[in-house]
Amino acid sequence: MNKLCLVGLLVGLASQTTLAATATSAPQQTPLQAKNAFIDKLMKQMTLDEKIGQLRLISISREMPQPKILEEIAAGRIGSTFNSITRAENRPLQEAAVAKSRLKIPMFFAYDVVHGHRTIFPISLGLAASWDMDAIALSGRISAKEAAADGIDMTFAPMVDISRDPRWGRSSEGFGEDTYLVSRISEVMVHAFQAQSPAEKTSLMAAVKHFALYGAVEGGRDYNSVDMSPTRMYQDYLPPYRAGLDAGAGGVMVALNSINGVPASANTWLMHDLLRKEWGFKGVTISDHGAIGELIKHGVAKDEREAAKLAIKAGVDLSMNDEAYGEHLPELVKSGEVSMKEIDNAVREVLGAKWDMGLFADPYRRIGVAAEDPADTYSDDRLHRAEARDVARKTLVLLKNQNDTLPLKKQGTIAVIGGLAQSKLDMLGSWSAAGRPNQSVTLYEGLTNALGDQAKLLYARGANVSDKENVLTYLNFIEKEVEVDPRPAQEMIDEAVKTAEQADVVVAVVGESRGMSHESASRSSLDIPGRQRDLIKALKATGKPLVLVLMNGRPLALGDELQEADAVLETWFPGTEGGNAVADVLFGDYNPSGKLPMTFPRSIGQLPQYYAHMNTGRPYTPGKPGNYTSQYFEEPVQGPLFPFGYGLSYTHFDVSDIKLSSDKLERKGKLSASVTVKNTGKVAGATVVQLYLHDVAASVSQPVKALKGFQKVDLQPGQEQVVTFTLTENDLKLYNQALKHVAEAGEFQVMIGLDSADVKEARFNLL
Ligand code: BGC
Repeated sequence: MNKLCLVGLLVGLASQTTLAATATSAPQQTPLQAKNAFIDKLMKQMTLDEKIGQLRLISISREMPQPKILEEIAAGRIGSTFNSITRAENRPLQEAAVAKSRLKIPMFFAYDVVHGHRTIFPISLGLAASWDMDAIALSGRISAKEAAADGIDMTFAPMVDISRDPRWGRSSEGFGEDTYLVSRISEVMVHAFQAQSPAEKTSLMAAVKHFALYGAVEGGRDYNSVDMSPTRMYQDYLPPYRAGLDAGAGGVMVALNSINGVPASANTWLMHDLLRKEWGFKGVTISDHGAIGELIKHGVAKDEREAAKLAIKAGVDLSMNDEAYGEHLPELVKSGEVSMKEIDNAVREVLGAKWDMGLFADPYRRIGVAAEDPADTYSDDRLHRAEARDVARKTLVLLKNQNDTLPLKKQGTIAVIGGLAQSKLDMLGSWSAAGRPNQSVTLYEGLTNALGDQAKLLYARGANVSDKENVLTYLNFIEKEVEVDPRPAQEMIDEAVKTAEQADVVVAVVGESRGMSHESASRSSLDIPGRQRDLIKALKATGKPLVLVLMNGRPLALGDELQEADAVLETWFPGTEGGNAVADVLFGDYNPSGKLPMTFPRSIGQLPQYYAHMNTGRPYTPGKPGNYTSQYFEEPVQGPLFPFGYGLSYTHFDVSDIKLSSDKLERKGKLSASVTVKNTGKVAGATVVQLYLHDVAASVSQPVKALKGFQKVDLQPGQEQVVTFTLTENDLKLYNQALKHVAEAGEFQVMIGLDSADVKEARFNLL
């Protein structure tokens, strides 16, 4: 176990009192010994059925009715549940366990607290766009506090799958394409959820997901297979999971995809060799929803019995919403196909997680007593609106601002066009936990709040997000999420044009509904969907200044719309306070500083399109196109529409040339790379200074550049600041052909800029 993890655990253990103290008498035991002794003793008393019960994590809403669940818990056949989200709901479940079951082993309660609990923060992709670790930490801490106050012990988060294919709907749920940025956020999120220890009353245990490589599903089609070279895995895709575990995460959720032919849930290499042996992970592994049974469809198990056997042997401790363990493990143990040791290993991890969450010391740690339940669980007083607004402002990315169209003046007449401007549900984005749409602020409401009676607001819907029957059926499959205006598309566009003609400026709120960027929501096009593009054309034709406010959970391939718009603001799905936050930026009460955490491609045909790609032997050279270079010949311009790390401000920043402290770096030495950044504009603003490295001639081809550091700076007009990055041998490491993490001697390029494309460059040698 690494140091951070151990510190967290020890703090947690120190707070275990009642049961632990009675179970262990030796005063000189370390907290870890006390934990192990307690669990050993408990396991000796457990029957096989009780052990298997601990390996079952049941969904409250879907799998069984409440009376049956209570009966199963009291019989020791269920050890944990998810999806029940109030103290009042969880209390009887805990009572069934600790008052009625034979061994009184407490339950734990889990939930997908991904980007908020009651207060919803921007979607994770948006949080990443802030590049602001304090803001991200604040969102995670508040989420944990709110969820713990509702009796929840564990979150299925952070989701740290690297995604380089925007067709994948779950791109919205992760932190983007870059290994370094996602790894830093992974650590920050785990610390924010767990604080000093997952045993704290206001902490949640974090379960890092989806282990592993889920973001690399072929073609961006959800649940699809993943086939990947070991060097790419180690270098690009695995570090964010590792970072979360090194930060002390107590859990790991196993991915739904297969990896080089073997589904993650049956993958012994993944869980035994890599996770436990190589990384030393000591926590609990959890299958994803129904994933054990899915081993049959994956084609590696002939029936559920075999699926259960494969999963337990591969190292899946806890089965989520799956009957396979409960049904088949008893017989598999009796027949000798699964050993008692294999069961015990899994049970030990589940009990260990419950210990680490502080539940043996006090099963009601987070549920509390009924008398102290909130009078109104949904009360607005329980929300953290100010924090949500501030975090959301930091996630907005200004993509275009021709002729300083933005910020808008609080005067005259403003036409707001687009159904998304009035949609409370879409504001929350997908995986919005216990967030309630009626508590979110739409953009229309945000603009109204900001303007008071200083300016007139007009509104027209303009277009539906889709008019296609199959798309709407899909989006409304589970519950009605997308309201469709039944009027003919042209009639709606005409109405919007008339509205625009009466205004001084047009704000068109366009993009996706939240369900379009969700689990299982892969797209075969990256266009702004439906008739919204026709709407934008028609609005442009009015000649009024046109501001596009984008709502979406993935990079979009903006075509003509980018030319048609005077300004474009990317707002993702900005959460409960989204409307106020976007209004702050549109009116210049807050100067945007967000930077893209994923490359925006020009077209879907360019995918995959990410900045940290390898060079080829025949790279495309701008200005010298010609034959036999790596390019799409039909595209007049190669490369992305907006590069990773890109984002404008209402001010301008200059970056000086790079100053290196030396042109040589000794092993174990340090080298600093500095630039001076100056705010040359008229207003205060923040920007993110980004440092990239490239190993010029390595034993394995390296990305043309890879982010290795970033710093956010706030500058007043005219102010300048020296920004210094300190590099060590560690920053230069790559995975060689033997998968050893080494820094190879030779020349390195260091690049610093305000996005990944526009950089200053210097070179040094590692000795
Ligand atoms: C998702 C997980 C999620 C789980 C429980 C699954 O469908 O893949 O990310 O944690 O459901 O809600």
